[in-house]
Amino acid sequence: MTVLSLREYPDPILHQKAEKVEEINDALRQFLDDMLETMYVDKGVGLAAPQVGVLKRMIVIDAEQEEDEDGHHKKGKPMFLINPEIVYKSEETIFFCEGCLSVPKQSADVERFQKIKVRYQDKTGTEHEIEAEDYLAVVLQHEIDHLDGILYIDHLSRLKRGLLLKRLQKMRAEKEKEKQKNPQ
Ligand code: NI
Repeated sequence: MTVLSLREYPDPILHQKAEKVEEINDALRQFLDDMLETMYVDKGVGLAAPQVGVLKRMIVIDAEQEEDEDGHHKKGKPMFLINPEIVYKSEETIFFCEGCLSVPKQSADVERFQKIKVRYQDKTGTEHEIEAEDYLAVVLQHEIDHLDGILYIDHLSRLKRGLLLKRLQKMRAEKEKEKQKNPQ
């Protein structure tokens, strides 16, 4: 399996709309496995194809993975969703603190639908519908947003987004300084 390289804000690909997947074949299934591997390596709960530079409507999620006391990673329930589409949204909403591998080490509260229904195709092309609420619903909405070129920070007020991006910039500058001090 290959660990893919992650695109980070402000990479313009993160703000582009992904295209529908028309053909599900072995190469695509391999790519989905690589996405899952990448997500686990980078300690994410979900990953969307545009985050690894591919503008296709595909996401992987594992909202039930765990880490034991020794820091060993345990797979939970990996899910592969091709052409996911939200077909129902509850009126009720919830706030949840979100982060994103493409906006490293930052987080903020985002308002989401508390319950959704998602229609998607699995790795064999079979269509399914799942109902999700709370945490899983939040993760699904976050990842499906990626397919429409939307990051969680786009849901924040200008002020909150500005502060978050300033923190991101500062963190990157410090990392850069550290690198120059300790060149490898
Ligand atoms: Ni994300």
